[in-house]
Amino acid sequence: MHSRAGRRFFIGQVHTEHSSVFCSQPRQTLTMFLSVVWLGVLGAVGVSATSSLDPRWNHRPRSNADPTPTTPAINKTQFVSTDGVNFKVNNSQFKFVGTNAYWLAALNTDQDIDSVLGNISQSNITVVRTWGFNDVPTIPENGTWFQLVANGTTSVNLNETNGLPKLDRIVSMAEKHGIYLLVSLTNNWNPLPSDNTTNSTSSQNLLKRDVATNNTLPRNTLSNDYGGMDAYVRAFGASTHDDFYTNATIIASFINYTTQVVQRYVNSTAILGWEIANDPRCNSSVASSPSCNTTTITAWHALIAQHIAKIDPNHLVSSGTQGFFCTDCTKLFQKSAPPPSAPSAAVKSRRNKIVPLTKKDILQEQKEARKKTRALQLQSGPPPDGVRVRGKWVATPTRRQDDVGVGSAFDGSTGVDSEDILSIKQIGFGSFQLFPDQNTYAPDDPNLSAFNNTLQAGLSWIIRHAQNSQMFGKPITLTGFGLVTQDNAPSFVPFNSTVAPFANDQFANITTSATQQPFGVTDQQRDDAYSQWLQQGILSGLSGMIQYQWGQGNLTAVNGTAISPTITENGIVPVQSENGISPSDGYSIAGVGQVSAEGTLQGAVQQFEPDT
Ligand SMILES: *[C@@H]1O[C@H](CO)[C@@H](O)[C@H](O)[C@H]1NC(C)=O
Ligand SMILES: *[C@@H]1O[C@H](CO)[C@@H](O)[C@H](O)[C@H]1NC(C)=O
Ligand SMILES: *[C@@H]1O[C@H](CO)[C@@H](O)[C@H](O)[C@H]1NC(C)=O
Ligand SMILES: *[C@@H]1O[C@H](CO)[C@@H](O)[C@H](O)[C@H]1NC(C)=O
Ligand SMILES: *[C@@H]1O[C@H](CO)[C@@H](O)[C@H](O)[C@H]1NC(C)=O
Ligand SMILES: *[C@@H]1O[C@H](CO)[C@@H](O)[C@H](O)[C@H]1NC(C)=O
Ligand SMILES: *[C@@H]1O[C@H](CO)[C@@H](O)[C@H](O)[C@H]1NC(C)=O
Ligand SMILES: *[C@@H]1O[C@H](CO)[C@@H](O)[C@H](O)[C@H]1NC(C)=O
Ligand SMILES: *[C@@H]1O[C@H](CO)[C@@H](O)[C@H](O)[C@H]1NC(C)=O
Ligand SMILES: *[C@@H]1O[C@H](CO)[C@@H](O)[C@H](O)[C@H]1NC(C)=O
Ligand SMILES: *[C@@H]1O[C@H](CO)[C@@H](O)[C@H](O)[C@H]1NC(C)=O
Ligand SMILES: *[C@@H]1O[C@H](CO)[C@@H](O)[C@H](O)[C@H]1NC(C)=O
Repeated sequence: MHSRAGRRFFIGQVHTEHSSVFCSQPRQTLTMFLSVVWLGVLGAVGVSATSSLDPRWNHRPRSNADPTPTTPAINKTQFVSTDGVNFKVNNSQFKFVGTNAYWLAALNTDQDIDSVLGNISQSNITVVRTWGFNDVPTIPENGTWFQLVANGTTSVNLNETNGLPKLDRIVSMAEKHGIYLLVSLTNNWNPLPSDNTTNSTSSQNLLKRDVATNNTLPRNTLSNDYGGMDAYVRAFGASTHDDFYTNATIIASFINYTTQVVQRYVNSTAILGWEIANDPRCNSSVASSPSCNTTTITAWHALIAQHIAKIDPNHLVSSGTQGFFCTDCTKLFQKSAPPPSAPSAAVKSRRNKIVPLTKKDILQEQKEARKKTRALQLQSGPPPDGVRVRGKWVATPTRRQDDVGVGSAFDGSTGVDSEDILSIKQIGFGSFQLFPDQNTYAPDDPNLSAFNNTLQAGLSWIIRHAQNSQMFGKPITLTGFGLVTQDNAPSFVPFNSTVAPFANDQFANITTSATQQPFGVTDQQRDDAYSQWLQQGILSGLSGMIQYQWGQGNLTAVNGTAISPTITENGIVPVQSENGISPSDGYSIAGVGQVSAEGTLQGAVQQFEPDT
């Protein structure tokens, strides 16, 4: 435990002092320059601002606020369904701002789950995305686990305290707080620690995370430490990541788990829908085979979506990919014609035709965007300096090479063709993610500063998916978006890693006067980016946007669990205490800037709520 002193001290330190941080007013924090860029982006793709200010934004049109429980008669209108590009509940449109809390089931007490959901609800946030899986290779001494995946077999943990029944309580508490859950059923990412210096087969070693700094993070601290696809691949003695998508035995096991979870909540109106997997793609911690391509991933989605739709006619099914495109891929599915609603300006910009995205479109749009920013720059002077996205990326050396042609977000190299997946009949709504620290969405525009490139890449990524919503006639949700701040940089562990690449920055900050420039954006830049992305999503017609991720302190801490005791200022580690903090893989809003980050989300909610 002592090895985590730096991290915990850091969090403990920031936790006491930030109640008076300014409350973000999204529009006021924008600089002139950013506003101009933003409008420039809007103009470039022809999104009309007249579609804004939908009064139903984030309104939760559910009638069961009535505290008296009623017999759960199945009334289909109370589930979330879709109507063209919109979600619908009780015959009203439903749009939302949400947050992620992958660690909900890892909390140590039901009271903690209740208080987290209560706080989220008080922020007027109505959707929480969380992990509905927790696979282990051996039964752990402490903490939650849902499924043992070992030796080519699986078995679900039905223990009331630490097994799947814990998810039952999350679902009923969500219902109590008027929150919908978007539940992911597995994860693409489950890297094992690379530290094999001592004994790579000892279970103690397998639990080690963040080994580069010799920190040992408890199981479930990181979002990629909940099992997932590679846990199945390992346990079944398969050899490639894509065996998960193609091996009949593994598919049967995943379907078995999926069935048990989905059937448990088939009648619950607190479930927004099922997300088949977080970030499914060809590459992962276990390498993929050369034959993995978009056909592999799309076909697997069709299989799982059909299965879920068959056993649960009440809830929507979504993919959970990052939303990558493949302009040149042959499609498995024919897109069905969108409903005859009036086509928006966004659709018209794709030459008024319902056709898949092409390479030519991408290159042309990128060129036009650069031309526009250059023109704007000539009018307004050079971009401001001092932007702190350090620009360098240690974990993915291909980031720079991506800036050639359409780039990896559009060339199908991840195995994801989100348009083909969206064409699957049983996929009720589309999803995508926005993590500029880990993916490249557009080539950098040399006319813009690093931060403004990040910001603008996010805006155009959002617009592109909103266009797809119109084209395919289905709602599209941004299921995770986040930027790593300088304060969070030491905790940042990329999804494909067990190691925090900037962990040493924290020691620099604490022990010496920081000589190193920290990685990440400032809190203010995060709030600017989040509020502009939220506004863009609302303007462009996304159905929901889910920030990554919530953070909370004052949780019950138990040694050996993801909520571990915080180190006190005297360096004493209490055995069990109430000052644990929710886990972070680098995006948590707990700590510095929490108030302003929450303010940004509340701002997006309130801006679009009906006047009272
Ligand atoms: C279903 O619920 C909706 C909204 O609560 C209500 O208007 C409708 O009458 C209900 N239908 C039935 C059959 O109970
Ligand atoms: C939540 O919404 C209500 C009703 O619109 C509003 O009065 C309240 O201030 C909002 N709360 C926050 C934290 O934004
Ligand atoms: C898996 O099999 C090995 C060898 O038979 C055994 O030692 C181990 O306990 C098994 N693991 C589980 C979780 O059953
Ligand atoms: C399905 O899950 C159950 C309960 O976890 C387990 O007993 C059974 O062996 C599983 N079946 C398959 C085919 O994996
Ligand atoms: C359930 O798990 C708890 C905590 O690990 C344990 O104390 C208890 O014995 C388990 N119950 C059963 C029935 O196995
Ligand atoms: C540890 O991992 C490295 C890199 O994968 C490998 O070269 C080395 O042989 C491994 N050592 C042991 C003891 O397994
Ligand atoms: C590693 O641990 C296993 C199990 O505890 C033990 O059998 C094995 O001898 C150890 N190997 C080394 C190289 O220490
Ligand atoms: C981690 O521990 C090993 C062995 O004790 C040591 O050699 C190494 O320098 C440590 N690494 C860091 C970053 O402290
Ligand atoms: C699935 O993987 C297992 C383990 O590698 C293997 O024994 C089996 O033959 C594979 N099944 C198929 C259909 O490829
Ligand atoms: C869900 O509702 C249906 C219809 O009332 C019922 O047949 C089924 O048993 C319910 N399932 C669960 C898990 O409660
Ligand atoms: C994927 O690879 C298979 C052969 O392994 C091929 O038949 C299929 O056309 C490829 N799909 C795409 C979209 O290139
Ligand atoms: C499990 O929890 C107990 C009680 O807090 C603690 O003594 C023990 O060390 C923990 N086990 C692990 C592996 O951390």
